[in-house]
Amino acid sequence: MSLRIAVIGKTGQLARALLYEGEELGHEVIALGRDTLDLTFTASQIEATIAALPSGLDALILAAAYTNVDGAETKPDLAYTVNATAPAIIARCCAKLDIPFIYISTDYVFDGEADIPYQPDDDTDPLGVYGASKLDGELAVLESGARALILRTSWLYDGVSRNFLTTMLDLAKSGNQISVVDDQIGRPTFSHHLALAILKSANVFSQQPDIETSIYHVTNGGEPVSWAGFAKAIFKAKGIGIKVDDIPTSDYPTAAERPAYSVLDTDSFERRFQHPLPDWQAGLRAALEMTEDLSSAD
Ligand SMILES: NC(=O)c1ccc[n+]([C@@H]2O[C@H](COP(=O)([O-])OP(=O)(O)OC[C@H]3O[C@@H](n4cnc5c(N)ncnc54)[C@H](OP(=O)(O)O)[C@@H]3O)[C@@H](O)[C@H]2O)c1
Repeated sequence: MSLRIAVIGKTGQLARALLYEGEELGHEVIALGRDTLDLTFTASQIEATIAALPSGLDALILAAAYTNVDGAETKPDLAYTVNATAPAIIARCCAKLDIPFIYISTDYVFDGEADIPYQPDDDTDPLGVYGASKLDGELAVLESGARALILRTSWLYDGVSRNFLTTMLDLAKSGNQISVVDDQIGRPTFSHHLALAILKSANVFSQQPDIETSIYHVTNGGEPVSWAGFAKAIFKAKGIGIKVDDIPTSDYPTAAERPAYSVLDTDSFERRFQHPLPDWQAGLRAALEMTEDLSSAD
């Protein structure tokens, strides 16, 4: 079924994947970039923008966020404004206008102390400001009265933006050895696989009014991997003969602490929305095709 969807965000990894995949699927997708809806706008500006959207939307997807995990430590006000205050206002508008709302959240709401995949209703305990601000956003959506899906994802990347994959490929151009942390475990998620999963859930959610507001986990599947393991898989797939040295997180200090283990259990999402999630290895292959398409277009 063809959907009418509005996406807040135009330039981010997920927003671009949603716009591309939405149009491929024949949906009508309205993109609200920062010029139209800055998440630091006042409540009345945000409300007016949402109220001006066409009626009969099947979903409003919030794909924009303050995503600078380390930057959030020194700019907490901005992180909370963008990741919690604005989503709260948007969710209340959705409740009033009866628009199904999709809020994208993060594995960083967890403290990473677990050793089995996190379930959506497991206790949260973010280690940094970014995770805490996203968690506040989740809670605000749950309290808003909107019919909403809160979809947590992890380690998002594509083949073209500034992210772990493209950083590794850039670093490989200037050396033959690289140190990458080996004690943070998760699941890398290709933005287009996430976008397809979100669009499927939007479709099912709009068709089945009995599905209640809830939290789900949506990542690529496959055996969890460390950042160093992911780097090795990238170089192997590209045939790049660079040596990856495994290092502990303590040898790579960052402003924000990251969860050591942030694997999310996606079973409830896959069952509820009848959408099997591809392994991260398939995501990596698809993302690398993007980088190759780009270099052959140069
Ligand atoms: N990246 C990850 O590893 C990861 C992991 C787990 C969850 N997530 C979540 O997944 C979602 C998508 O992340 P992503 O990786 O696609 O993000 P991204 O590539 O960093 O893009 C962030 C987007 O948010 C926009 N934005 C930032 N501040 C804004 C503001 N004040 N007003 C309006 N727009 C603003 C940016 O616009 P400009 O281009 O104009 O700055 C950009 O389009 C987010 O909710 C994020 O929290 C991401």
